[in-house]
Amino acid sequence: MAKPKVAIIGPGCVGQTMGKLLRAKGFTISAVAGRSRKSAKHGLNFIGGNGKAALKPASAARGADIILLTTSDKAIKPVCEELAAAKAIKGGAVVIHCSGAHGPELLDAARERKAFVAALHPIQSFPSPDQAVKRMKGVYFTFDGDAEARPVTAKIVKALGGHLVKVSPTNRALYHGALCVLSNYLVSIADLGQQLLSLSGMGEDEAAKAAMPLVEGTIANLKSVGSPQALTGPIARGDGLTIENHMKALDALPGAMKKLYCELGLYTVDVGVRKGTLSPADARKIVRTLTRP
Ligand SMILES: NC(=O)c1ccc[n+]([C@@H]2O[C@H](COP(=O)([O-])OP(=O)(O)OC[C@H]3O[C@@H](n4cnc5c(N)ncnc54)[C@H](OP(=O)(O)O)[C@@H]3O)[C@@H](O)[C@H]2O)c1
Repeated sequence: MAKPKVAIIGPGCVGQTMGKLLRAKGFTISAVAGRSRKSAKHGLNFIGGNGKAALKPASAARGADIILLTTSDKAIKPVCEELAAAKAIKGGAVVIHCSGAHGPELLDAARERKAFVAALHPIQSFPSPDQAVKRMKGVYFTFDGDAEARPVTAKIVKALGGHLVKVSPTNRALYHGALCVLSNYLVSIADLGQQLLSLSGMGEDEAAKAAMPLVEGTIANLKSVGSPQALTGPIARGDGLTIENHMKALDALPGAMKKLYCELGLYTVDVGVRKGTLSPADARKIVRTLTRP
């Protein structure tokens, strides 16, 4: 496939980001479709080039070598079935969705049209296309699908500056759960930390700003030495008295905050022991403090 024609169905954050970057690397974005011509035009505007803003997904997909189904997860299967029913998927085409929660089975209707299918999931958060285009380099993509689809997906990932790895179909839910912890729960932990800072007397804005150098510094440590070595603070040092004082201060706050502090503290005890700076005896004392009713 010299210059494959790519149709993008679902011109949201992921569709626009991948479309713009692939076009910059010489892929032809032949057509874009969303739920309305307006959204297709909007997406195409961001992607650039001379593609068509199609009224219907089937009209965008017809004749394409690669169909990127970057709709919301729940629309992937019905839209793929719609394309297959309209005979808009040509034999030998590669049909790809980008959901991390689902495997290539959502695209079975395309297989029946003799296309090859893949679930190609970028391990990155896409808050907006403007931000995401700057953050694609070095991203890991997981692949699951037909062997025949792999060379095309590898070409896409290479063009995006990423790395391609395989995900086991049987462990997909665990894989997606792990990403949920790394991205979504990280936001929740930052939110809890900022709320506690506010409750300690800082203004909300000030708390959010003060938190960022600490969060960035911790991420930089994770990047340079990884976990468990990046762990610092009272648990890593075995300073049980400080944890006792935290617990007393948290007593006055909503129970959910203390509960989460304790759960994360217990997990952190395990990280501290693995780091080698928290002795088993100090670990046991801290566990007693964190589990006291
Ligand atoms: N966002 C992330 O951080 C992220 C990260 C990795 C993977 N993903 C995956 O990437 C895929 C796309 O996510 P996203 O964040 O880009 O979603 P999004 O911003 O909500 O965009 C979804 C797009 O799908 C279109 N769409 C929805 N239903 C459709 C239908 N029936 N027919 C045609 N188009 C339809 C929407 O059209 P309109 O524009 O007309 O509304 C919209 O353009 C999902 O599978 C998601 O799980 C997302």
